[in-house]
Amino acid sequence: MIKKYSFGRHIPSYATVKEIAAEKGLPGYFRTEEAPEKICFSFRMEKEDAVFGLGEQTRGINKRGWSYTSRNTDDNVHTENKTSLYGAHNFFVVSGKRTFGAFFDCPGEIAFDIGYTDTEVLSVSLSRGFDLYIVDGGGILEIVKEFRGLIGQSYIPPKWAFGFGQSRWGYTCEEDIRQVAEGYRREGMSLDCIYLDIDYMEGFKDFTVSRERFPEFERLVSDMKSEGIRLVLIIDAAVKVEKGYSVYEEGIKNGYFCKDEEGNPYVVGVWPGDSVLPDVLNTEAREWFGGKYRTLLDMGIEGFWNDMNEPAIFYSKKRFSGFMENFMPEFAEEYFRTKENGLPIETYNHFKDRVKELENNAEDYAEFYHDADGTTVSHAEVHNLYGYHMTKAAAEYFRTYNPDKRYLLFSRSSSIGMHRYGGVWTGDNASWWTHILLNLKQLPSLNMCGFLYVGADLGGFMYNVTEDLLLRWFALGIFVPLMRNHSALGTRAQECYRFKNKETFKNFLDIRYGLIPYLYSEYVRCALNGDMLFKPLSFVYTEDERAKATEDQLLFGESLMIAPVYEQNAIGRYVYLPERMKLVRMTSTEHYTEEILERGDWFIPVALDEIVFFIREGKVLPLAGPGRNADEIDEDNLRWVKFIEQDTVYRILRDDGYSLKDIGEKFVAITVKK
Ligand code: GLC
Repeated sequence: MIKKYSFGRHIPSYATVKEIAAEKGLPGYFRTEEAPEKICFSFRMEKEDAVFGLGEQTRGINKRGWSYTSRNTDDNVHTENKTSLYGAHNFFVVSGKRTFGAFFDCPGEIAFDIGYTDTEVLSVSLSRGFDLYIVDGGGILEIVKEFRGLIGQSYIPPKWAFGFGQSRWGYTCEEDIRQVAEGYRREGMSLDCIYLDIDYMEGFKDFTVSRERFPEFERLVSDMKSEGIRLVLIIDAAVKVEKGYSVYEEGIKNGYFCKDEEGNPYVVGVWPGDSVLPDVLNTEAREWFGGKYRTLLDMGIEGFWNDMNEPAIFYSKKRFSGFMENFMPEFAEEYFRTKENGLPIETYNHFKDRVKELENNAEDYAEFYHDADGTTVSHAEVHNLYGYHMTKAAAEYFRTYNPDKRYLLFSRSSSIGMHRYGGVWTGDNASWWTHILLNLKQLPSLNMCGFLYVGADLGGFMYNVTEDLLLRWFALGIFVPLMRNHSALGTRAQECYRFKNKETFKNFLDIRYGLIPYLYSEYVRCALNGDMLFKPLSFVYTEDERAKATEDQLLFGESLMIAPVYEQNAIGRYVYLPERMKLVRMTSTEHYTEEILERGDWFIPVALDEIVFFIREGKVLPLAGPGRNADEIDEDNLRWVKFIEQDTVYRILRDDGYSLKDIGEKFVAITVKK
């Protein structure tokens, strides 16, 4: 059952799809304290209570023991001390003596203190202007399902989006793209798409293609498609300020950009230098921005990734001018005055702090405004909606462009509601072993909040990868819907064909493609039913104390449990089996062994060239034969890996993979013999 409580009006966030009348009075479970500025809800946690959810965040699956902030932030250092990443996913479930869910439908900042200040107290504080939904009845999975009903069906991408994609910041010309395609094809490694980062644009201008570096872009797109590879393009939130650039000119003419207090376009610095931010909270401006994707769709593009849409601000023009014109001369004077005797370290630190303050400054976010269809609202109040509405702009336009086609679309910044329009990738992670585990832990939390099409940059975005890290990360990535290898400019190249163990990468990709019928069927089923594709063990084995404490294994779909290795030089890992399962050890789709293991703890050796997973009792896994890409895998001759004692039925999705019509109505029941 869901109950809604309203605390003042807010700009529509479009997070939910159901109208629920607000209750009178205050929500149960919480103690509510109203101060003039903030409202604070607190809940006394029992010793055994765990808290799950909050989507894309740092730390554990159980969020207890830290504080988190919903404030979408462009931050490329995803370490434990952080309290925000790129998304605001304000739904959590307290699971224990009393189990209930709470969703704060609020477009602005929220502080969640989950046993940080006081180990026994969970508190949530935020400013007026939000709705609180309390979900209860049943166990955690029922609560999640009920909540998912409230927020609407998750985005379903085209089937090719379950293939593998290669990306890198730094593919600057046509030749670079052809080389990547060639590298993968030469080694017989499957590949569905190549991602183009900002380098394809002319001067980092959205919806342009550099004709100098991509003289025959349309031909490149069609050549690639004929090889079974699609190009997926990045679009950034900020639009370059430049006379004669049509997107800028049109937006200025029609007043489609966010404005400062005086009504002038608010200028910020991002990749193209001085830029302005489309007012995606305004319907007319949003439709206009969405319509701009047409230029690229007309060139044959079928997939996009929306970036820098927290929105990221390297500096605001105003703050930077103030810095250069006031602070810098003062600092220079101080420097020359003190340099003989050595610059005091405080002066230097002050300088450093002032430089740091230029980026993503909270005061800047409060200095520009949206015209939310007639209501002027400060950006700070609706900050967390920006990435969502930029993505909505694109998705809504795709529907107009081709009403029956699915496009690939995912975003860096998001909030709940966006899960209906696209997926997310988890931003600028690093080539660190701990980030394999972070990737794993974010999966169920994101699923709870409706985000099913998710994935992390495999191999890590920042810093240099090593071959073993990439292999181990792939051993998780092959199970994850968005499977993309991406890395930052200047880091070591990390395309699979560059490494020594090419055969292993090829085999891992074959296994991924073999898994697509299962992944795709389970994914669509979860989207349609409001289920989670990745579940923590504790959500299913609810009475099992060990399962509750297991945070490095996940159930994947109805049949599998996964337990990747996430430490360098490990020869394997301990795995907890909450029930009897069948261990499957694969080096390729052809070569695998099976072994039934009893419930309990097992040390499972896992060599670098092996993929290991577990099949639950009574369950089966279909495996397709490899293909160059998702369209070409052999689904007619499925191989079944099974742990059954009697014939069973598996329902597999056999649709065309790209149309929107009758989605999910093409499940075929296949009887699998024991
Ligand atoms: C941001 C994105 C990253 C991209 C880079 C350049 O850091 O998160 O994926 O490569 O910008 O566009």
